[in-house]
Amino acid sequence: MSRRPRPSPAELVADPGVLAPRPLLEVFGAEGVATVGGVAVLPDRGGWRRACGAGLVARPWWSEVGSGPFSQGVVHLQKGRAATWQALAEVWRRLEPGGRLLLVGGNDLGVKSAAQRLARELGGPGEVVANRAHARVACWRRDDRPGPALPATPAVEVVAGGRVFELPSAPGVFSADGLDPGTGLLLEHLAALDPPRRIFDPGCGIGVLGLAALGCWPDATAVLADIDWRATACARAGAAGLGVENRCEVVWWDAAGEPPPLASCDLVLLNPPFHSGVPVDLQPARAIFRAISQVLEPGGRALVVANRTLPWEGDLAAIGELCRLADRDGYKVLEVAR
Ligand SMILES: C[S@@+](CC[C@H](N)C(=O)[O-])C[C@H]1O[C@@H](n2cnc3c(N)ncnc32)[C@H](O)[C@@H]1O
Repeated sequence: MSRRPRPSPAELVADPGVLAPRPLLEVFGAEGVATVGGVAVLPDRGGWRRACGAGLVARPWWSEVGSGPFSQGVVHLQKGRAATWQALAEVWRRLEPGGRLLLVGGNDLGVKSAAQRLARELGGPGEVVANRAHARVACWRRDDRPGPALPATPAVEVVAGGRVFELPSAPGVFSADGLDPGTGLLLEHLAALDPPRRIFDPGCGIGVLGLAALGCWPDATAVLADIDWRATACARAGAAGLGVENRCEVVWWDAAGEPPPLASCDLVLLNPPFHSGVPVDLQPARAIFRAISQVLEPGGRALVVANRTLPWEGDLAAIGELCRLADRDGYKVLEVAR
């Protein structure tokens, strides 16, 4: 007998009595908007495209939503607390007085401790309006308190090509808490490369690799692309801060569902994703490898950094001749020569 899969925490928002039949502001999910209407804020391009395809109103970020007010708002708990808190703060300030703020999440992501923290900030415990399938929804009423505190978003310091520079980051984007050690290791190998003409940074995050490369090679141009709208906004701001925006195109792009955002390149710099949310997921990286295979010119090179245990060698050897440039501190840097 096949066992029914456990419902996702997101499904609880569609339980009877959780939402009022009025337009909803929903962040990091669209299950509630699909039930009662309203606007979903979905920075992940895959989720945004699915929601738009289903005829829902979906926006990539707050800047596209307007000020409301809404009578109810749902935030889907994220693994990163800063991203969750930013969303709670943004929803809170768009709620009308007495409007309902709902937090939904699974026990495995820590919904109980998140609700306790929110209770401390909002001056009282939320009402639990759904509690099943190892998940819950808790609800607070908007009052005149300032609401959840907006998290700080410090800039990320990057050292590349003998220069030190800072890039803007945002809650929830990769490396928001500081430069990833794997990315740092890859940066050490830029100086040994021949100057490229056109650089591709797929899965760019805040743009560390592509922007560092533009700093090293003043005649090069680059395309930076990421599935996360917040990351592309940071990368765009970083390019402007470094004065390289005229040589840099930043694209909101889902490798798994869209063609590559450029026709050709002679250098790829990549730190591939291996998580979708919490679980390990190798498919997004493989979609990026397919895109690289379509655009990397003969004679071009791809430098890829990854945790030593990730099994990318077979995928990359199908693109070109593979060699290991470094193996240090749990990371490896692989070079593919086409
Ligand atoms: C390991 S991070 C590397 C970020 C950046 N290159 C760095 O080194 O700091 C991988 C990035 O891939 C992005 N990503 C995940 N799935 C993607 C997809 N399907 N299409 C495009 N980008 C994706 C993530 O949002 C994330 O920013």
